[in-house]
Amino acid sequence: MRGVIYRAYGGPEKLEVVEDLPRPNLKSKTGVVVRVHATSVNPVDWKMLGGYMSLVQIGRRFPFIPCFDVSGVAVEVGRGCSRIKVGDEVWGMAHFSSCGGCAEYVVLPEKLLAKKPSNLSHVEAASMPLVSLTSYQALLRAGGLKAGAKVVILGGSSATGIMAVQIAKHAGASLVAATCSTRNVELVRGLGADQVIDYTQEKWGDVLAGQEFDLVYDCIGGVEAWKAAPRVLSSKGAFVTIAGDKQEKFSVGKVLSIGGSLINRKFWSLFGSPRYAFVTCESNWEDLFEIRKMVEEGALRPVIDKVYPMDLARLAFEGSIGGKARGKLVIRIAPKVEGEDNYEDQTSSSSEASTSASGSTSSGSEEPRDQSTEDSDRKDKDKLHDKEEAEEADKPNAEQEKPADE
Ligand SMILES: NC(=O)c1ccc[n+]([C@@H]2O[C@H](COP(=O)([O-])OP(=O)(O)OC[C@H]3O[C@@H](n4cnc5c(N)ncnc54)[C@H](OP(=O)(O)O)[C@@H]3O)[C@@H](O)[C@H]2O)c1
Repeated sequence: MRGVIYRAYGGPEKLEVVEDLPRPNLKSKTGVVVRVHATSVNPVDWKMLGGYMSLVQIGRRFPFIPCFDVSGVAVEVGRGCSRIKVGDEVWGMAHFSSCGGCAEYVVLPEKLLAKKPSNLSHVEAASMPLVSLTSYQALLRAGGLKAGAKVVILGGSSATGIMAVQIAKHAGASLVAATCSTRNVELVRGLGADQVIDYTQEKWGDVLAGQEFDLVYDCIGGVEAWKAAPRVLSSKGAFVTIAGDKQEKFSVGKVLSIGGSLINRKFWSLFGSPRYAFVTCESNWEDLFEIRKMVEEGALRPVIDKVYPMDLARLAFEGSIGGKARGKLVIRIAPKVEGEDNYEDQTSSSSEASTSASGSTSSGSEEPRDQSTEDSDRKDKDKLHDKEEAEEADKPNAEQEKPADE
């Protein structure tokens, strides 16, 4: 089968399109072989490629097929599967330990797959699982969002923020305030945000101070957000982040530091400091089932920045690293069928044109960015180009799926 692999940690230049990967087989009775039609890139993909997530990659063998999001058709199901049948159109998110979405076939446990929303194409469906699951779990579970609540979403134009604004409105939030830069104000307002704060002009902590919000949901990261939150939260308010204080390698030291600040912040929440939670997305079909209902009711829609053919997957990664994507960067895996969707695939010339125009593959205008974000991005990109020890593969990547329960 065709697929994208990497044989060593590094930047997007490490990604290769390979024609003759072995097709993965069912290894258990609760697995499903999916013919992948589309996948999409998330920041975690290039962080893994760069070796940032080495702690969750322990035991991984190269070469490795990246990407978690999947939309496709079930072509083989294990005897123990009860919900998914051969021929079903499915969407899902692979385990953090396995990935494998950026290839023609992937095997996923049935419990990570749900039927795809009937009103979405595969390209649209592939843009949603990881980011919708993350924001659904962060807002409704960790954040305890209830009807009537007041919510601040930091990064309303980020892929997770785009989901969050819509999920919060659907859950009945009485006020959704979201931050973004000037070029994205109309996009975020169009998603349903009641108040949009242009972070290039104003500080959200100043604008919203004293307004007794119930929840700050941080999709951007940085310790400044945690420091500003008490000014806008009520005494019972919560601060939920998916990005933490800093973007850096997910090493033992990072885990200890996250653990330390978690304990510290939870302790101070006993004495009036906001409740703090760091959320890591959990893939499961039950939440996807609920998200599918929202999509089919028209309450939640995908926003796609660009669609790339598999051969240009590298450019989708570069676009995500650029940090300017307006919605998702999708990779089309199965050839487009006439009339299937309205998205034009990027060609190498169109991608190069927009890359040279904006410094990333996103087509947005040149708004000034927060200096700490720029610094963090620059550090991330520098790290990506650090040469990491390459582990050469002694066998092809057929072992992309090792679910614990199969
Ligand atoms: N813990 C988890 O399970 C989990 C799950 C998903 C994602 N994440 C993390 O969450 C973060 C967001 O992921 P994503 O996929 O949503 O990102 P993304 O779509 O790649 O984010 C890009 C967007 O962020 C906006 N942005 C950049 N700096 C900003 C700032 N200071 N304030 C407001 N908006 C800003 C950009 O808009 P402008 O160009 O207008 O600035 C752009 O629209 C990443 O760090 C990712 O690793 C964690």
